[in-house]
Amino acid sequence: MKTPQVHATYPKTLQCKGGLRVRLRPMQAGDLDAVRAFFAALPRADRLFLRYDVTDATAFESWLPQLDNPRQLRLLAFSGARVVGHALLEPERHNWSPHVAEARVVVAQDLKRQSLGTLLLRELVDQASVRNYDKLSTHMMDTQVVARKMCERAGFTVEAELKHHVKDLDGNKHNLIIMCCNLDEAWHRMELLLEDFAPWAG
Ligand SMILES: CC(C)(COP(=O)(O)OP(=O)(O)OC[C@H]1O[C@@H](n2cnc3c(N)ncnc32)[C@H](O)[C@@H]1OP(=O)(O)O)[C@@H](O)C(=O)NCCC(=O)NCCS
Repeated sequence: MKTPQVHATYPKTLQCKGGLRVRLRPMQAGDLDAVRAFFAALPRADRLFLRYDVTDATAFESWLPQLDNPRQLRLLAFSGARVVGHALLEPERHNWSPHVAEARVVVAQDLKRQSLGTLLLRELVDQASVRNYDKLSTHMMDTQVVARKMCERAGFTVEAELKHHVKDLDGNKHNLIIMCCNLDEAWHRMELLLEDFAPWAG
C-alpha cells in the first residue's frame, strides 16, 4: 500500500482535472491585494457563508501576524498572478484538542468543478500530517451542499449537526455541520479519487 508522500516545498504546481495548472504556495504579506480581489470576486452565494465579511477591505490584515505560525498554513493557488483558490489549515482554539485542525477551502467561481477544491483539501491533509495532527474537521452550514459533497468524497463524515447555530451574512439562521476525518483514511481515499490524472506536476 502507498504511504502519504508529503510535498512540503513550495511553490509547487498542481495539475487539475482537464489540464488546468495552478501554482500553489503559502500566502505572504505582499499578497493582500490579490487576496482581496479573489474574495471580492466570489459570487454572493459563496460569500454569504464565509465566516467574515470579505467586502470589508481591512478584514484580511488580521491574517498577517499568523502567516508565520508553524501550526497554521494559509495556501494560495495562483493562475498567473491571479489568486484562484484559498486553503486554510487552522489549529483548534481549545487547548484540549491540540491534535485537531480545521480545514477550509474556497475556489474561484470560473475554476470550479475541475478538482481544484479536492486538490487543495488533499494538500491540507498532507500538511496536517506534517504538523502531527491526527484529525481534521471542516465546518459548514446545512445549505453548503457542494462543500459537503466534496468533503464526503474525500473521506470526511458528519460527526455533529448543531441546530440553528450559525447565521449567514444576511442574518438567516442555519444548522452548523461539523465533518471530520482521520488523516490516514482521508489520504488513501483521495489518492484513489485523484489517481486518474497527475496532480503533482512539478
Ligand atoms: C466547495 C468548493 C471548494 C468545491 O470546489 P471545486 O474545485 O469545485 O471542487 P471539485 O472540483 O474538487 O469537486 C469535488 C466534488 O464535489 C462535487 N461537486 C462540486 N461542485 C458541484 C456542483 N456544482 N454540483 C454538484 N456536485 C458538485 C462533485 O462530486 C465533485 O466531484 P466530480 O466533479 O468528480 O463529480 C467550491 O464549490 C467553493 O469554493 N465553494 C464555496 C466555499 C465553500 O463552501 N467551501 C467549503 C468549506 S470547507
